[in-house]
Amino acid sequence: MLDKARFPDHFLWGVATSSYQIEGSPFADGAGENIWHRFSHTPGLVEHGHSGDIACDHYQRAASDVALMHRLGIKAYRFSISWARVLPQGRGRVNEKGLGFYQRLVDELLEHDICPLITLFHWDLPSVLDDRGGWLNRDIAGWFGDYAQTLYRALDDRVKLWITINEPWVMADKGYLQGVHAPGHRNLFEAPIAAHNMLRAHARAVESYRAEGHNEIGIAVNLEPKHPASQNPEDLAAGRRADAYINRYYLDPILLGAYPSELSEIFGEAWPSWFDADLDDIHRPIDFIGINYYTRSVVHNDPDNPPVCVSSVPPPEKSRTEMGWEVYPPGLTNILLWVSDRYGKMPLYVTENGVAFDDPPVVDGRVNDIARAQYLHDHLLAARKAINAGVDLRGYFAWSLLDNFEWNHGYSKRFGLVHVDHNTQLRTPKASARLYSELISSHGTGLGVSDVDGAGIDMNFSQGISDTV
Ligand code: BGC
Repeated sequence: MLDKARFPDHFLWGVATSSYQIEGSPFADGAGENIWHRFSHTPGLVEHGHSGDIACDHYQRAASDVALMHRLGIKAYRFSISWARVLPQGRGRVNEKGLGFYQRLVDELLEHDICPLITLFHWDLPSVLDDRGGWLNRDIAGWFGDYAQTLYRALDDRVKLWITINEPWVMADKGYLQGVHAPGHRNLFEAPIAAHNMLRAHARAVESYRAEGHNEIGIAVNLEPKHPASQNPEDLAAGRRADAYINRYYLDPILLGAYPSELSEIFGEAWPSWFDADLDDIHRPIDFIGINYYTRSVVHNDPDNPPVCVSSVPPPEKSRTEMGWEVYPPGLTNILLWVSDRYGKMPLYVTENGVAFDDPPVVDGRVNDIARAQYLHDHLLAARKAINAGVDLRGYFAWSLLDNFEWNHGYSKRFGLVHVDHNTQLRTPKASARLYSELISSHGTGLGVSDVDGAGIDMNFSQGISDTV
């Protein structure tokens, strides 16, 4: 029975964050500037003029944040490294103080029995590299490989899981095509080049890991089922294009050695003919796939929305999040099964899953975010179903530990299991954090069988987690 079925013994129950979204102190200890600092300080690009200058002040509070995770019973922590802290010029001289921050963080995690998972790149490219063309410059593969090697040499003795790049799709689409993320370009011709160079950089980092590292390395991609709005041939084709663009764009070349054929149709004359040698290089084994799952979309053909020529049907209001995304737990089961089926059974991690809701306020040191708790619960159940169906799922990382800087939305969207008062930096674990804590300590058996039917969840948690720290 499901409620008696424990998650696998070594399942990693984690939370995830990223450097620019939580650290603050952008220039502390000799760090170089990164493109998100530059972007958020350009008027009009981020809501309310927010920036990551302070964020969650994690650079100053890392030790107490680790202690907080420990109190919540968290077993694994996925965080990213700020490239410009470690290499202020993007290449060459290592800034020992910047590197030291991450070395201390890893030691602190291990002392608290929390398994670190490092993401090498979560969008905060050093500005000096952007000045040299950033992801449009072919040399970036080598720059990234060298940066990665510095980290492996410093930390691979203590870090067992590495991710090269977080969501290259978002970086290419929002950073180079839509212009809503740093570096803020809107250029159809650039987007495929940036994407291709990210894949080459990923490959270089994997290659260098095989020479230097002793543990496991993979990539984190955002996947999203694309369901055609109707069975008419235009909508079915739109569904295939949308699926190729978001779900197969990065995994196909890495795991199958070729780009999906729909991409040349989508980009038209902006789709270059690639060197075969690049694709051979990109097509090299990785140890696991990290999957970031938030939502699905229902799509229809829309010639007025190039280049993919697809639009999404707005989700019903009752299942819509603050981001406008649909809450759709079965999509997580489906996407995990789809990946295992298409690319062959291999270790998978849910490296991000979470939701922004308009949370109730902090009252008496509590935030009763029942909707997020339900979301977490239902998605863990969906993950459990995928395991029962044979998927080799090794861990789940809730996005996010803290309410943080949500990119172009600034602080207006809250994804945290822990509420952050951005004036005082007070952390308050929400009800969702307490639910997660209970589920971790019960190895997931607390996902009661009655809940399979969507019955309500019991929010009277017995565990003594201090509410406000
Ligand atoms: C990203 C996170 C982001 C989250 C919510 C993911 O695309 O990796 O950095 O905060 O989604 O939008």
